[in-house]
Amino acid sequence: MSKIDHIKAPIEQELDLFESKFREAMKSNVALLDTIMTYIVKRKGKQVRPMFVFYAAKLIGDINESTYRAASMVELLHTATLVHDDVVDDSDERRGFFSINALWKNKIAVLVGDYLLSKGLLLSVKNKDFHLLEIISVAVEAMSEGELLQIEKSRNLNLSEEVYYDIIRKKTASLIASCCAIGAASAGATPEQVELMRLFGEKIGIAFQIKDDLLDYNDDDIGKPHGIDIKEKKLTLPIIYTLNNADKATKNSIINTIKNHHNNKQKVDEVIKYVNEHDGITYTREAMKRYKQEALDILKQFPNSETAESLAELVEYVIDRKK
Ligand code: IPE
Ligand code: IPE
Ligand code: MG
Ligand code: MG
Repeated sequence: MSKIDHIKAPIEQELDLFESKFREAMKSNVALLDTIMTYIVKRKGKQVRPMFVFYAAKLIGDINESTYRAASMVELLHTATLVHDDVVDDSDERRGFFSINALWKNKIAVLVGDYLLSKGLLLSVKNKDFHLLEIISVAVEAMSEGELLQIEKSRNLNLSEEVYYDIIRKKTASLIASCCAIGAASAGATPEQVELMRLFGEKIGIAFQIKDDLLDYNDDDIGKPHGIDIKEKKLTLPIIYTLNNADKATKNSIINTIKNHHNNKQKVDEVIKYVNEHDGITYTREAMKRYKQEALDILKQFPNSETAESLAELVEYVIDRKK
């Protein structure tokens, strides 16, 4: 059994049922939309977020109907943001296949993203899950802010670690934080427990995005383009650290490449090599591990149980994953 299958085993039935409910939640009478929804459902992702929802619920109490809706809601919102993100990043590959914008162009991708977003929000409104809706809406707001903040900051290539963390906390960690919070809330957690789970999710979310940024420096097949962060002038921790620790001439030369030669593969490869040789990757990995540890420390505040152990394994998976 692979590592992820082992982690999924205790909630396998729940995840199966979730998948059919998720598919149902995406249905449309508009033929074009339905074709695209079928395309999306076939190319499912790792489903890490629903797993956090279910395990957070189990940690507190029993998985119930509202937990399933919470899981569908986060996966719908997540899918919506990925469809939009690929437009924003001009990316043609997602989950090992063509992205929606690559196949149907930007106009349609924008509308498809909006459709998924509205489906996610409606699911909770229709069922009067207002408490869950409140938690999740905070994440939707933060995600948009995070993506925009990233664009704003990439214009002046002078990114501090502080700004980097602000961006990833908003664009990625906010949703994973919500997954843990709504999972717990769906099972009747106290406000204190919900807040603790939110914080747990935020730490994992930050580690998750740092891992994603590390994968961009990898040559392995990750089911989406790699090496595109520099091309997109997206400054992530490996390069931020390297820039802040390079001599002036090197710093200027790297900035020049990012600004003016980001489509020149040879020059970009030189930058990547320099980052590797000057501990940009090592430093970033250490930062990721720190956030992982902070998450695990929060988890220890809950009584020991099989579910707590599964959650801890899921946290390890987030930073060990190959894609
Ligand atoms: C990708 O998330 C977007 C980021 C926040 C980095 P995932 O890596 O969880 O994407 P899927 O759902 O498995 O494709
Ligand atoms: C993460 O952004 C996606 C969102 C949080 C919306 P990225 O652009 O860094 O993620 P990938 O690498 O395309 O999945
Ligand atoms: Mg992006
Ligand atoms: Mg992207």
